[in-house]
Amino acid sequence: MLWRAQLIACAYRYDQVPPHHLPEVVMVGRSNVGKSSLINAMIGQRLAKVSKTPGKTRSVNFFEVQGDPPFVLVDLPGYGFAARSGGELELWRRLIERYFRSSRVSLVLQLVDFRHGFLKNDRQMEEYLAGLQIPVGVVFTKLDKVSGSRRKSALDAYVKEGFRCSIGPFLVSSETKEGLGDLKSGLSLWLKE
Ligand code: GTP
Ligand code: MG
Repeated sequence: MLWRAQLIACAYRYDQVPPHHLPEVVMVGRSNVGKSSLINAMIGQRLAKVSKTPGKTRSVNFFEVQGDPPFVLVDLPGYGFAARSGGELELWRRLIERYFRSSRVSLVLQLVDFRHGFLKNDRQMEEYLAGLQIPVGVVFTKLDKVSGSRRKSALDAYVKEGFRCSIGPFLVSSETKEGLGDLKSGLSLWLKE
C-alpha cells in the first residue's frame, strides 16, 4: 500500500491551522517516542523532521496523505520535555487544547515506547483524550529494541495493566518497518467505517 504525502501547513498558533475537509489522524506521545519517524516510515518519504534529541518537533505539522481514503496526518510536538521556556510551553498548551477541542480530530494515534509501556504522562494524556471522547489507536514503537522472546510477555503485561483504545494495539518499528503494513491497513479500514 503506497501512500504519497505532502506538507500542507505548520501551525504555531491556532489561526495557522489549515482548513480542509479530510479526516484528521493525530500522532501524540512523549518527546522522542518516534512520532515523526513513524510518519516518515508510513509514507516512505522523509517529510517530518527527526532527531536523537527530544523536542525536535516544535509546531503542529499537517501532512495530506493520498491514501485510500485520503486523510490528513498531524505531527505534534511531544510531551514530557521540560527544556523549553515557560512562555513557549504555555503557548503550546493553549494551541493543543484549542486544537483538541475543535472536533476536527477523527482519531488519535497514541504512541508509547514498547520498552517502557505507559508512563505517568501517557496516562494523563489517555485520560485527557477520554474526557474529550476522542477515539484512540494505541501504537507501541521501537519494536526493534525488544528481542523477539520478550515481546509477547511485554505486550501481555501492558494489556493486563489496561489502556483505552478503539483500534490496535499496533506494534511497529520505523527502523525495520515491522508492523507498518498492519498499522496502515488498520487505519484505512477504520477511516472507511
Ligand atoms: P519529538 O519531535 O521531540 O516529540 O520526538 P518524536 O516523537 O517525533 O521522535 P523522532 O521521530 O524524532 O525520533 C526520536 C529518535 O528515535 C530518533 O533518533 C529516531 O531515529 C529514533 N527512532 C524512532 N523510531 C524508531 C524505531 O522504530 N526504532 C529505533 N531503534 N529508533 C527509532
Ligand atoms: Mg517529532
